[in-house]
Amino acid sequence: MNCPNLINPIRDTFGRPLHDLRISVIDRCNLRCNYCMPAEDSHKSYNFLKKPEWLTFAEITRLAKIFISLGVVKLRLTGGEPLLRPGLPDLVRQLSALSGVEDLALTTNGILLSELASELQRAGLKRLTVSLDSLDDEIFRRMNGNKGHASEVLAGIEAAQKAGFTPIKINCVVQKGVNDHTIIHLVRYCKKAGHILRLIEYMDVGNQNGWRLENVVPSRELAEVIGRKISLVRLNAHYRGEVALRYGFADGSGEIGFISSVTQPFCSTCNRARISTDGKLYTCLFGWKGTDLRKLLREGASDIELRDIIAQTWQKREDRYSELRSKLIQNPHPPKIEMFQIGG
Ligand code: GTP
Ligand code: 5AD
Ligand code: SF4
Ligand code: SF4
Repeated sequence: MNCPNLINPIRDTFGRPLHDLRISVIDRCNLRCNYCMPAEDSHKSYNFLKKPEWLTFAEITRLAKIFISLGVVKLRLTGGEPLLRPGLPDLVRQLSALSGVEDLALTTNGILLSELASELQRAGLKRLTVSLDSLDDEIFRRMNGNKGHASEVLAGIEAAQKAGFTPIKINCVVQKGVNDHTIIHLVRYCKKAGHILRLIEYMDVGNQNGWRLENVVPSRELAEVIGRKISLVRLNAHYRGEVALRYGFADGSGEIGFISSVTQPFCSTCNRARISTDGKLYTCLFGWKGTDLRKLLREGASDIELRDIIAQTWQKREDRYSELRSKLIQNPHPPKIEMFQIGG
């Protein structure tokens, strides 16, 4: 997406522009995916935020406007599970009315999508990404802590399609020996239904998922396995900084993407800022220290003061966790932010 943004975006120490803002609207979730919030330990080790700790919609909208003035053109709402945030369509309405927003997207696990898809569409949401790790309900449930059913997600996707969200992106985290043997079914389903499947290498986000390199299926291997059954051709990126490597089906019937943060890191073009539910600005998905924007907001900072702090934070940015992963893993560092506190 080459955006005709009139604002010259600020740049970090590697010259990477600020382009996307991802906003986590709630840290709670109705699933317990083993790669994010494993059912066995998340309650023991984490207290969810209380409502007064969440940024309000007015605070989120005010911050979004300031980020837009610094170059952001793309907003994505995340969680936890964002559809659990009461009144979410109101926030979508407020954000979609901001001038300078070229793209407004949401990532959801889809469980509540049947109820909310039409309202979100009417509120001005442009794009939807739905997580779905397997069509096999037993495997799906094994991966999400036995909380939801694949059929609920499929019904949500269908409702979203009917509401006018096309194409829908489907995120699937691939874990060796867990769901990798079911990927081909998901590819066929998405190809037929016109969804864009994105196969994501299992990542070491947060501190609780017990990640091990041997559980990662390298995208190149997966592409080869899929390519033996359904012929694939490489496609160019839509825009600089696109996370997924795109492949088209040779018969022209659609595309799939591979997100390969472990084996083919894409930090050199990373242009994404993230705000946690409690209003901290993170400049990397694997960060451990955020800039507390909520404190500034609630202490009465002006837009200019907030803008300066955000700009300084971005301009000092040096993050490239995925490129340095093997070194960083071996060295002790403070606990990282969890995926459910900051979204994907
Ligand atoms: P589009 O706007 O549709 O292209 O989506 P996107 O490129 O922003 O991707 P999306 O938000 O759907 O991200 C898909 C998944 O990729 C996320 O859930 C993460 O798992 C992973 N991901 C996204 N951004 C980053 C990133 O900056 N670093 C790493 N390591 N992974 C990321
Ligand atoms: N590795 C890769 N992707 C992950 N996600 C969450 N945790 C991980 C992980 N450990 C992705 C899910 C979801 C999005 C919110 O983040 O696929 O689509
Ligand atoms: Fe919930 Fe998404 Fe985390 Fe799964 S990945 S537990 S759906 S927040
Ligand atoms: Fe960006 Fe950090 Fe992901 Fe690298 S690891 S692409 S810097 S969010």
